[in-house]
Amino acid sequence: MNKTLNQIAKEVVAKTILAADESTGTISKRLTSIGVDSTPEVNREYRQMLFTASGIENYVSGVILFDETIRQSSNNEIPFPKLLDEKNISPGIKVDKGTAKFSEDKVDTYTEGADGLEKRLLEYKNLGARFAKWRSVYMISNGSPTQEALDKNAEGLALYAKACQDAGIVPIVEPEVLMDGDHSLEQDKEITIKALSVVFNKLKVYEVHLGGVILKPNMITAGKDNPKQADVETVAQTTLDVLKTTVPFEVSGIAFLSGGQSPDLATGHLNAINKLRNAKPDEYPWRITASFGRALQGEALEAWGGKKENIEKAQKVFIERAEKVYKASLGQL
Ligand code: G3H
Repeated sequence: MNKTLNQIAKEVVAKTILAADESTGTISKRLTSIGVDSTPEVNREYRQMLFTASGIENYVSGVILFDETIRQSSNNEIPFPKLLDEKNISPGIKVDKGTAKFSEDKVDTYTEGADGLEKRLLEYKNLGARFAKWRSVYMISNGSPTQEALDKNAEGLALYAKACQDAGIVPIVEPEVLMDGDHSLEQDKEITIKALSVVFNKLKVYEVHLGGVILKPNMITAGKDNPKQADVETVAQTTLDVLKTTVPFEVSGIAFLSGGQSPDLATGHLNAINKLRNAKPDEYPWRITASFGRALQGEALEAWGGKKENIEKAQKVFIERAEKVYKASLGQL
């Protein structure tokens, strides 16, 4: 039987989402940080280590893959999407093609990847993808993001979301306001409200079915160069205030990116958000979980260090973090 978009979305956010969709450039950066050169084979071994960690299915319900990864297989030749599927983990795929600058003298970017998107979605669906991801990026800096940047990025997200749903794929809509810079928590709140409001307006214009959408937002924090960081409770309450102002109730799930926060801090924030949410489920009706990249993988990457003899230890470290993040998604840490 064909599952509805709502059912797929609910399954994807049931536990947590592992963002293992680093592009060629990003995975290269991550591996260089542990002194390892990225090649398709090294990337495959690294991702295999994560996907085959014993018990992953207890804490992870979706994994976002990169174009290279969705076509790769385990040592015993099981394609990664099938390997995940057999553990009841939904495979997903990053479909945007990164960002481009509006102009050299501005920080504002827009996201590319609309060319041939329909065809690529069908191919990815045949390869096993049930959901997709498209990321827009906003940098807070003198006068940025501009209204032009907010509009163009929202338009890109909405057109992508519509194309996904037409192909029977659930879109993760990711408008990320970066932590880069020294902005205050209040500025982050203001810009994130603007970005999310424009995005939801555009989703409405393009008649995107909100029950079949997962939102992947940033938490509301001060910029990472700002010495005045808010406490965990303030971050949690401000983040919920922003969601309440901007996110329609029909949206099936919200899955936060970690954005460069440490694993402990991102997990702590998610836990505090869900504790507050659990106290007022009528005000915040969505499932709220994580779609972390760095905060789920960082410790395991370090423990692995590119060495075969460290695989078991790294898998253990990964599972310990995944369990904590899952518990935080229930407010039970
Ligand atoms: O698009 C962003 C990634 O999927 C999430 O990565 O948790 O390291 O920010 P992050």
